[in-house]
Amino acid sequence: MSRPFYVTTPIYYVNAMPHLGHAYTTIAADVACRFNGMQKKETFFLTGTDEHGDKIVRAAKKENLSPRTYVDKMSGLFRNLWPELNIKYDYFIRTTDLAHIAVVKQILQKIYDSGDIYFSEYEGLYCFGCERFFVERELVDGKCPDHGAAPEIIKESNYFFKMSRYQDWLIDHIKNNPDFIRPERYRNEVLAFLREPLEDLCISRPKKRIEWGITLPFDKNYVTYVWFDALINYISALGFPDGDLFKKFWPVAQHIVAKDILKPHGIYWPIILKAAGIPLYKHLNVHGYWNINQSKMSKSIGNVVQPLQLKDSYGLDAFRYFLMRDTVFGLDSDFSEEALAQRINTDLANDLGNLFSRVLAMVHKYFSGIVPEIDSVVEEELQPGLKSDAMNTIAEFEKTMRAFAFHKALVAIWEFISKMNKYVDITAPWVLAKKKSSKKQLEVVIYNLLEGLRIISGLIYPIMPDTAAKMQKHLGMDPEKPFYDLDLLKTWKGMEPGTKLPKLITLFPRVDLEKEKPYSPENVDLKATFSEIKPEITFEEFSKIDLRVATIVHAEVIPRAKKVLKLEVDMGEKRTIVAGISASYSPEDLIGKQVVIVANLKPAKLMGILSKGMLVAAVDDNGCSVATVDRKVKPGTPLK
Ligand code: MSP
Repeated sequence: MSRPFYVTTPIYYVNAMPHLGHAYTTIAADVACRFNGMQKKETFFLTGTDEHGDKIVRAAKKENLSPRTYVDKMSGLFRNLWPELNIKYDYFIRTTDLAHIAVVKQILQKIYDSGDIYFSEYEGLYCFGCERFFVERELVDGKCPDHGAAPEIIKESNYFFKMSRYQDWLIDHIKNNPDFIRPERYRNEVLAFLREPLEDLCISRPKKRIEWGITLPFDKNYVTYVWFDALINYISALGFPDGDLFKKFWPVAQHIVAKDILKPHGIYWPIILKAAGIPLYKHLNVHGYWNINQSKMSKSIGNVVQPLQLKDSYGLDAFRYFLMRDTVFGLDSDFSEEALAQRINTDLANDLGNLFSRVLAMVHKYFSGIVPEIDSVVEEELQPGLKSDAMNTIAEFEKTMRAFAFHKALVAIWEFISKMNKYVDITAPWVLAKKKSSKKQLEVVIYNLLEGLRIISGLIYPIMPDTAAKMQKHLGMDPEKPFYDLDLLKTWKGMEPGTKLPKLITLFPRVDLEKEKPYSPENVDLKATFSEIKPEITFEEFSKIDLRVATIVHAEVIPRAKKVLKLEVDMGEKRTIVAGISASYSPEDLIGKQVVIVANLKPAKLMGILSKGMLVAAVDDNGCSVATVDRKVKPGTPLK
């Protein structure tokens, strides 16, 4: 059995909704994990949420929720989003898990006992957004570079971790292990940090200031600094210290993070591990930012793009492909919906999609949809070169995927796609099909093309798993066999002659950007997708709401009230309802429509009219869409 593979994402703060930046890291981890699965490795993929600290408490307060209720709700958003993006994590960790808390305490105690933690009074510049002290030279114009606010001077007694003791050791480790932090630019950045004397790390926060955290095992008046708590998730999730998962996967651990959290991962984490006598992780893989108009996509700037919105508009695999293809892992990228549409139209619909339908159409046309048998003598004569191109592509794919250079792997696959398209043009099967004497050549050409498609379907699997499966189905392959197994891909002649192929399909429809709504922050209605998930209610509470079907019998515009319409509805009895839907409906659209009404809502006077009940509608950034029933029912029928 080959070496196992363990990959982690950062555990995300739950004070913000997941956005494209979080999706990128998590999809990259999924891609890496699926690629390692292709090599028959045992894999483990960890993600989760970071739930302690001051900023979480503040976010909970804003929503009038207790920290506990708030973190449960927000963590659920992340946990439930990932499967929607076809991300197959093995374990989802939360820093509020009891098992995690126990491991954090154990490690703190161990380091405390060994003398690397000391108590001292400290006065310093504290940024509440970052939840850490700053030294002057880290500030930009006296302000925190991430939050743009001037830190406050705070004087308090705290516990400190003697990081400085390990500075020389860490420098040596990074120098002796050139790919410990990669790509190289980030290794150099960490080495540059380490040229300055390392400050000891304040690892506690007094409970009188903040209580939402893990109590220090050696002083109940303090909680642990969030980073000391969060980093430990990577081993607590594996059942440190004795768990089998820990023994198997920790020695091969690979982290993926963006450059914003390089310092905690490249400096604090190795030193914590060293001080606790735990072996270090293998690689820290650092990527850049997804920007919008050159500024980092982030909640505080308010320029976030929602992954689900893009998935719904463009398709999941196209979205995953774009993220992996349009950025060089390690560098920043600017997001634009135009670039996404362009990629879909050229790379997916034109190059791959056309090749796929072109070849399959020929199998149907010349061989009634049956994979042809080939004559080995003719195969030799034809010297297609396609086989060696395919094998070179697989080799390049393996090399680049292993190094997290996903875009390079995709470039290599697309070069092969282009060679396949050229092979069609050069061999001109339509000419071969005209003469009986060239039937054998035609069989070889078509077989080679099908074989090439089989290999492409396997290579795109980590990035576009649904498309890979779709291709494989239309190539008539056995769904029980792991068609993405790298060894199987390397065996030329994997296609079974005599197999009947199903009907043609279009892999990727083209995108008409004119019809799509280009991204702009105003178009993004975060509330519609995420924040309106309300707290749980009991069945009794729900059954108090009287929902009824009503038929609209009359609708009219109210003069001087731009947004609302006055509706007369029949729900067994006639009622007047005022509804704010005139931006999406004109009165004529509504007459005769059966809609859903909250019938027992306390009547209220709106625009001088007594409205008895409320009409239910879905509201998103395209306006509103009234809820209706699937077939006509008697007015007044209740919804249960
Ligand atoms: N909770 C800490 C991490 C603790 S790990 C032990 C944290 N959380 S976070 O919610 O702020 O997530 C930061 C990570 O989200 C980045 O490192 C990156 O993986 C991802 N991204 C957030 N915004 C991003 C972009 N605009 N672009 C690319 N990745 C982004 O830090």
